[in-house]
Amino acid sequence: MKSCVIYYFSGTGNTWWVATRIAEMLQESKIQVSCYSIETLMIEDVLTHVSEADHIILGFPVYGSTAPRPMMDFIHTFPLSNGQQTISIFATQAMASGDTAWTIGQRFEQKAYTVQQTRHFRMMNNLHLPQFKFYPPKNDQRLDRLLAKTLPRVAGFVREIVAEKKHLTGNNPLGHFLGGLQRRHIDTVIAKASHEFRISRKRCILCGKCQRICPTGNIMQRQNDLFFSDGCALCLRCYSQCPTAAILLGEGSEDVNKYPRYKGPGNGFNVEVLIK
Ligand SMILES: Cc1cc2nc3c(=O)[nH]c(=O)nc-3n(C[C@H](O)[C@H](O)[C@H](O)COP(=O)(O)O)c2cc1C
Ligand code: SF4
Ligand code: SF4
Repeated sequence: MKSCVIYYFSGTGNTWWVATRIAEMLQESKIQVSCYSIETLMIEDVLTHVSEADHIILGFPVYGSTAPRPMMDFIHTFPLSNGQQTISIFATQAMASGDTAWTIGQRFEQKAYTVQQTRHFRMMNNLHLPQFKFYPPKNDQRLDRLLAKTLPRVAGFVREIVAEKKHLTGNNPLGHFLGGLQRRHIDTVIAKASHEFRISRKRCILCGKCQRICPTGNIMQRQNDLFFSDGCALCLRCYSQCPTAAILLGEGSEDVNKYPRYKGPGNGFNVEVLIK
């Protein structure tokens, strides 16, 4: 394998972090690699890259054992393989997701790609809301420790890609059971939760950041008021990145100590890299 293209969607930075580490490690192995946030691409770009790459890597955060809507839309328009290309899928998760990456791999089998690897990497949780309590995200040295634990697993993934080894996780009865269970409810959970977004007028400084960074263009402004439309993917980017924590999601989310916003992995994370 000589050349590789990485496509990722990342709501709050974790998947960006893994994709960037993968790109660096592949370069060290003398593989020609390009790495893109799907929000920066046009379909014509993808057609060109895919026709030139030997191997494709796709990454996204797990949302209830499936991929976020922007990534599902991207996959839907993804070109068919020329029959030679292989693909590896990775997903980042806070805890567990069953067969997520394997299930997404099936969509690519239907497009004539050979799935080489499906993997899940544990990263910091970004989902801790009054109506959906998980463990709260940490923005301190505990995050660094988690990244240090995940890094060798990412390196193993890269080594196997370079060696062209097959390694599929999630394709087992327990994986399918857990994945199926979560997928059954995720659309309803997202639709319900995303209708509860509101903006605190007291806190909002109308800086426009949330509108600019929303991957689905879901935040609108009318005079001095912001409002949410119906296209939220619940990526939590606006909620996490608002400089004044003015975006609220359910009763109690005003309290940033009780519901801390996830600020993304490492010191170097800047949300702008996802959209430029
Ligand atoms: C709507 C939503 C659903 C999620 N569902 C799961 C899940 O089913 N299992 C899990 O382990 N983590 C889940 N998470 C946590 C994220 O997958 C995890 O924090 C991920 O690394 C975030 O990646 P990102 O920073 O690239 O967006 C969910 C997060 C969101 C926002
Ligand atoms: S990012 Fe926060 S402060 Fe800026 S416009 Fe959006 S809600 Fe207001
Ligand atoms: S409104 Fe916020 S949570 Fe919903 S898609 Fe846009 S940035 Fe993500």
